[in-house]
Amino acid sequence: MNGQLPTAPGPIGVFDSGYGGLTILRQIRGMMPQYDYLYLGDNARAPYGTRSFEVVYEFTLQAVCRLFEMGCHLVILACNTASAKALRSIQQNDLPRLDPTRRVLGVIRPTVEALDAVSRTGHIGIVATPGTIRSNTYALEIAKLHPEMQVSGEACPMWVPLVENNEYDSPGADYFVEKRMGNLLRHDPQIDTVILGCTHYPLLLPKILQYTPREVTVMPQGEYVASSLRDYIQRHPEMAARVTQGSTTRFLTTEQPEQFSQSAAIFLGEAVEAERIQL
Ligand code: DGL
Repeated sequence: MNGQLPTAPGPIGVFDSGYGGLTILRQIRGMMPQYDYLYLGDNARAPYGTRSFEVVYEFTLQAVCRLFEMGCHLVILACNTASAKALRSIQQNDLPRLDPTRRVLGVIRPTVEALDAVSRTGHIGIVATPGTIRSNTYALEIAKLHPEMQVSGEACPMWVPLVENNEYDSPGADYFVEKRMGNLLRHDPQIDTVILGCTHYPLLLPKILQYTPREVTVMPQGEYVASSLRDYIQRHPEMAARVTQGSTTRFLTTEQPEQFSQSAAIFLGEAVEAERIQL
């Protein structure tokens, strides 16, 4: 495959199972508007959060390979489920074979790195998809960087479908948000920081805040992922040279492009014209 990959500089690839990664793209573009971006949402197969390790890995690898074929040298998995279940295998087993000079980065590590600046009690709550919670990746990463911290996780299987179906600000969403936040905070009343461990969840933020005591900090990931990417590019001039700078964004989806364009325009607050691809 290496022989077929384009070698010319290309856009930064941003991948998610659906719309959630747009919350990350928005922050990355805000910080680094000069680059070109290629966003891919696998909407036809979302949500990933309830799927097995093998399937998430297989789907994510297909998406990464497509983004490489379309000219990306650097791909961000703007999806916690894919970062938890596929990132390590892709980095360790697939990249050396596909092209050891390309990079795939995730969203979990940058979020965990920021924790000690945010939490005072060291009691951390994670809300995420069932797949991310079951993988235990957050707890393992936190144990590596901040072994003194206490971690509690709550799986929220209904939250991504609420966002994917444009129901995130409907009264029906209140029930599911209140239930999950209540479970988490009852489990450890000393929690002072809640990580939104799914890139879809910033859309639910107004509702999440409604069911969170004021002294608890709710932590979306976008700004941490964006600043960590900026640092990465600064520390790796050889990668910076392989990213084109035209301030464009192209959107790809595996579902209906009209639907994607409409929803993405709401997420990003700008007109979007998506193209359909098959993985
Ligand atoms: N946006 C993905 C995440 O951050 C979630 C998605 C899904 O269940 O498809 O985990």
